[in-house]
Order: sequence, then structure tokens, then C-alpha cells
Amino acid sequence: MIAVARNIEESTSERVNWIKCDISVETEVNALCEELKKKETTYNVIYLAAYHHPDLVAKNPKIAWDVNITALARFLNCMEDVRCFFYSSTDTVYGNGSTDVHFKETDVVDPVNLYGKHKVLAEQLVTGYGYNVVRYPFLIAPSLVKSKKHFYDQILETIEKGDTMEMFADSYRSTLDFGTAASLLVKSIEQYTKDFPKIVNIAGDDDLSKYDVGCMIAKKHGISTDLVKPISMAGSQGIFGVKRAQSALMDNTKVKEALGLAEIKINL
Ligand SMILES: NC(=O)c1ccc[n+]([C@@H]2O[C@H](COP(=O)([O-])OP(=O)(O)OC[C@H]3O[C@@H](n4cnc5c(N)ncnc54)[C@H](OP(=O)(O)O)[C@@H]3O)[C@@H](O)[C@H]2O)c1
Repeated sequence: MIAVARNIEESTSERVNWIKCDISVETEVNALCEELKKKETTYNVIYLAAYHHPDLVAKNPKIAWDVNITALARFLNCMEDVRCFFYSSTDTVYGNGSTDVHFKETDVVDPVNLYGKHKVLAEQLVTGYGYNVVRYPFLIAPSLVKSKKHFYDQILETIEKGDTMEMFADSYRSTLDFGTAASLLVKSIEQYTKDFPKIVNIAGDDDLSKYDVGCMIAKKHGISTDLVKPISMAGSQGIFGVKRAQSALMDNTKVKEALGLAEIKINL
């Protein structure tokens, strides 16, 4: 297995051959593609790289465009011997939903911020090239990289100290853990044929608020859920720079049909 990153800090498995490449630097991408072409094989590609923090995308739109659009477009056209190519997109493309709507892949996209708009454009590049898109919900789990803490780790560290963690109780997503999200993408690659749906929501069955997720983490670690304090999106001014969708639930019927699954549950 080949993994590509611009910073290779630690290797998690001997099965992984790491290659250094900054996806926004044309010469590095060309060298990567030339190197991959030498091997007589075809590739199952998972494309994760993104400039994805919505506030930073708004603050640095040109850098974000370079990474999210220009680099992706160049890589699509450079990478050869592709058996299948899956691009990771987001529920953010749908925009603002409500608790009684589960967005389907065929629904009109209407993102509320520039990050979501970049993802819509990126999806069009990918599907326009004939490749596949998965739309993920809010994903959470402990980080596997020691030097890079995830939101899960921040929540746990806060409540382990006995401090209070404020979390939105009125903002819902079809939340999944990273492990389940990754394993469903791997299954999609294993079962890939040219008839695999070009865009699928890989989303959980349960409508979860961030507060629900905080309570799940507290319970898992035997910590009182009283330390997770429910707050409202209405009072979120100052927490977010740019607008976020309050709720963006997703319908997961299509991926369940494609992969023959009865349920998709978060596993924290
Ligand atoms: N996490 C979620 O809830 C969620 C939900 C829906 C969709 N997604 C999508 O899933 C993908 C992965 O996100 P994540 O949450 O796992 O975040 P992440 O850990 O920050 O992954 C993004 C990766 O892109 C890499 N990257 C950024 N610019 C690059 C460049 N110029 N060259 C090479 N690599 C570059 C980053 O490398 P560095 O570590 O060096 O910065 C990082 O490893 C993104 O496309 C994101 O939009 C995430």
C-alpha cells in the first residue's frame, strides 16, 4: 500500500510505503505520478487532501483554491493506471437542513460557506473525470497520530480534567467514527465496478448532535456526562468565523444497497 503525504512524521504500519509529495506543487505531483507509473499495476486511489477548515478557507481563499481545486484537477489528469478513484467530500455540500430531512445524493446542493462551495466544485471535477465521490458526515475518533490531536482527544482531555465541555445540542449530523467511515470506503473499493454509484453518502443511521457525541465519549470513559454542557447554535457567535449549516443529516440508503448492509452504526 502506498500513502502520500507532504509531512511524513511516523509510520504506523510496515505494510505502508510512504511517499512525500505536496499535492499543490506541480513538480512534486509529476514526479509522484512518474514514479507510480513505473510499477506494473493499477491503483485504487483514495484522495483525502484538502484545505478544509471553513474559517481558514474564507481567510485564505487563494491558498484554499490552489489545494482544493487546482491541485486536484492536476492530479486527476496526471495519475494513470487508475482502477478506481474515490474522493472524500462532505455533508457540507448540502447546506442547511433540518431534523426531519435526510439529504439524498440527488438533492440540490446549496453550501453555506466557501469550503462547501469548493467541495461542490471538486466533486464536479472528480465525477466529470469519470471517478467517484463519497460524502462523509462529521467524523470523530481518537487521533492515530500522536502529534496531531483530534476533536475527540480535546473533548476527552477537557472532561478528564474535570472541566466542562460545551457542545451543540441542536445541530445534527449523521455522525460516524473514522474507523467505520474508512472501512466502508475500503469495502466500496473492494466491491467497485463501473456501475458503483458515482456519488454516495457514507453516513450513520443515527441523527446525533455534537452534545450526544460528547456524552457518548464521557460514558465510554466512565466520566460524568454532567461535564458535557449542552449549548445552542443560536449562541455560537464567536465560536465560528464563517457560517455553518445547523443540521445536515444524510440518507444512507444508496450505500447500504451498494454494499449490501443492513445498518451503519457509529462505533466510538
Ligand atoms: N473529518 C471530518 O469530519 C470530515 C467530514 C467530511 C469530509 N472530510 C474530508 O475528508 C478529508 C480528510 O479530512 P480529515 O478530517 O481526515 O482531515 P486531515 O487529517 O486534516 O486530512 C487532510 C489531509 O490533507 C493533507 N493536505 C493538505 N494540504 C496538502 C498538500 N498541499 N499536499 C499534501 N497533503 C495535503 C493534510 O496534510 P497535513 O497533515 O500535512 O496538513 C492532511 O493529512 C478532507 O478532504 C475533508 O474535507 C472530513
